[in-house]
Amino acid sequence: VSIVIGLFIMDWQLALYSIIFFPLCVIPIVILGRKARKAAHSYTVTTVTQSSLLVEILYGIKIIKAYCLEEFQFSRFKNLSDTLVSQTMRGIRARELINPLIEVISLTGFALLLILIAYLQRSFANMVTFLFGVAFIYTPIKKLARVHIMFKQASIGVNRLRAIFSEIPTIKEPISPKKLGVFQKVIEFRNVNFGYNSNLVLKNIDFELRYGEKLGVAGKSGSGKSTLANLLLRFYDPVHGRIMIDGIDIRELSIKELRSQIALVSQETVLFDLSVRDNIALGKPGATFDEVVAAAKAAAAHDFIVQLPQGYDTMIGERGFALSGGERQRIAIARAFIKDAPILVLDEATASLDSKAEAVVQAAIDRLAQNRTVICIAHRLSTLANMDRIIVLVDGEIKEMGTFKGLINNRKVFYEMAQMQALLG
Ligand SMILES: Nc1ncnc2c1ncn2[C@@H]1O[C@H](COP(=O)(O)OP(=O)(O)OP(=O)(O)O)[C@@H](O)[C@H]1O
Ligand SMILES: [Mg+2]
Repeated sequence: VSIVIGLFIMDWQLALYSIIFFPLCVIPIVILGRKARKAAHSYTVTTVTQSSLLVEILYGIKIIKAYCLEEFQFSRFKNLSDTLVSQTMRGIRARELINPLIEVISLTGFALLLILIAYLQRSFANMVTFLFGVAFIYTPIKKLARVHIMFKQASIGVNRLRAIFSEIPTIKEPISPKKLGVFQKVIEFRNVNFGYNSNLVLKNIDFELRYGEKLGVAGKSGSGKSTLANLLLRFYDPVHGRIMIDGIDIRELSIKELRSQIALVSQETVLFDLSVRDNIALGKPGATFDEVVAAAKAAAAHDFIVQLPQGYDTMIGERGFALSGGERQRIAIARAFIKDAPILVLDEATASLDSKAEAVVQAAIDRLAQNRTVICIAHRLSTLANMDRIIVLVDGEIKEMGTFKGLINNRKVFYEMAQMQALLG
């Protein structure tokens, strides 16, 4: 400001002239700046959406794999990446225009100024001082033009996602897979050892599960219960021993065929940033709306779904409508229903619910378990009362096996756990 006043005192005519160029410079900056900011804003929104999709994918990786949804999630991610690229381009274009525009305007102004000076026939000394003054005003303006939101140009690469999906390199698709058809006889674990690193998490696991049987898996936190399910779904391969379905080693089956036999309801309820309807339909590609409704009814979810603001079209998931834990779990159960797989793996499906919600969800699970072969993992032993057989894991080993009653009468590990839970309420 003091420079401006100085210039006016020195030569008001010239000063006035220079000042006229100020708004001329500012207008394009404002317009283009606004454009750039808009682009930056939508860019940020898309980035956030993409990041939360990534979080959703990482969090739900088990369910994505178990339901063979890799390609689906991949295309959602790719769409966002494409949007990001076009938004970035728009931002860059606006930004790139600002500097040359100012350059052109200020140079033109400068040339006119020189002509004006010649015309008014000012002294040489005056002229030089004045030009320095003007240069001083314009430098900060040019700097100002460069002050706008910088774009983070590196978008999360689509290829990284491919890498994440195939993150577990030990799992290999067989070159010529055997055909299983539909599971109908027996699942066998034979001398299975497994560790995520050098320490074994499962040791010498050996049991079988006949078609239609319901097997409970009990054990303290960290005893290897979820790992057992991870191996059956082939998220990992055993270090030693083998797992067979109807006599075929699961490593000889195509991963897709294996996983199509199994519906997983996992320890963490995974819902995606989609509508209720789409979340359920993920269980069966090309499911009709009637099938979705039938699955929701079977899962005791229909009644609360129709109460939602947009019914079956209500968006849920990370950034969608907030559902209670029991409601979320019933949608996950509806997804398992619609998949209609012969083998059901329940990993602590009711563990995170209060006892009222648990009763509703448990009833839905009991319906889902009908006429299926079930592996039910539970910390809370009362959940296992209806199982045909229960295995008790201690530090990755099967310490006991039997019926609920039989294990209680044994008065060993299972009995002690039951006692503890009774004491703790
Ligand atoms: N992805 C992994 N990488 C490395 N270690 C793991 C991984 N998942 C589990 N573990 C370890 O393997 C052991 C068994 O874990 P697992 O999840 O099977 O236990 P769990 O019986 O299901 O426990 P919880 O009742 O808490 O669910 C634990 O010591 C755990 O820290
Ligand atoms: Mg677990």
